[in-house]
Amino acid sequence: MRHLIDITDLSVEEIEGLMDTAADIVAHPENYRDRCRYKKLATLFFEPSTRTRLSFEAAMMELGGQVLGIPEASSSSAAKGESMADTAKIVSGYADIIAMRHPLEGAALAAAGKADVPVINAGDGGHCHPTQTLTDLFAIRRELGRLTHLTVGLCGDLKYGRTVHSLIAAMSRYPGVTFVSVSPEELRLPDYVTAAMEKAGIPHRETADLEGALPELDVLYMTRIQRERFADPAVYERLKDSYVLDTDKMKKAKETMCVLHPLPRVNEIHPAVDADPRAAYFRQAVGGKYMRMALILKLLAEREAPASLPQGEPAPHRCRNPRCITRVEQALPLLQKDGRCIYCETII
Ligand code: NCD
Repeated sequence: MRHLIDITDLSVEEIEGLMDTAADIVAHPENYRDRCRYKKLATLFFEPSTRTRLSFEAAMMELGGQVLGIPEASSSSAAKGESMADTAKIVSGYADIIAMRHPLEGAALAAAGKADVPVINAGDGGHCHPTQTLTDLFAIRRELGRLTHLTVGLCGDLKYGRTVHSLIAAMSRYPGVTFVSVSPEELRLPDYVTAAMEKAGIPHRETADLEGALPELDVLYMTRIQRERFADPAVYERLKDSYVLDTDKMKKAKETMCVLHPLPRVNEIHPAVDADPRAAYFRQAVGGKYMRMALILKLLAEREAPASLPQGEPAPHRCRNPRCITRVEQALPLLQKDGRCIYCETII
């Protein structure tokens, strides 16, 4: 059975196939209305969400399936102390596929190890968010007509912004892509992300200057400063308004640039930018539902495929990342691959 834990669980060809299916669903929704009849999607959300959870639920409903789920941690047995892996095991007896969001990094992988149905990672702490990346890639393809030979600016909270980590992993596989990361010093990309780019020879430049970077960008991917991940609220207060995209700054950008944002936005894009035709973030969010429909169809169709979970060697001790699932779920096997924790990718 296949899961989607990390965006690289899907090949570039498979992602292209999902985008083609999503485009076909947009054009011919009537052909898909009964494709998941009698199937159930469980949404296990242990962290807040609007778009991701509702777009998953709408996706399953538009395929003729049904949904059940937990909208927040306090309403599940997690509040009684049940392990996340046990919850996933139990829910896989009630549903055909699970979409899960959790504040700890590696939680979806740990769940997939126990579940008897496909698990989709709908965000694991500050680690990754592969279905947002499917949404982002579909948006870029629709807005610009290609995913190759692009200069992609990533702006805001690049340390905790899980959508950015998955987007880099995905776009690093397309030829001619250059990344410009724009953040305050404290919110730069994690070491494992920059190390992977360096190893693969992906052109990458870091700067704190958004206005200076804007003229060269084909895509500007704005992100929210992730308040819930800061240990010290004073640091969040100091950094929260580091970047605000407004109509003046947009004058410095190419006429063909597109602005994306996984949403929700707080202050980082002024609402006056919404009227600019280059502001693609609301169109981007709508596309997410179609990509999730395509993904659900694919994973349900491939129930008999070989397991896609990463294998590792025993690690000598628990991961040093305090937000790693292995720090909380004591029964998990401690595993490493290429010197990194297999759950959260922290360099061991
Ligand atoms: C993002 C997330 O949850 O990581 N939202 C989303 O899924 N669309 C981005 C964010 O919360 O800032």
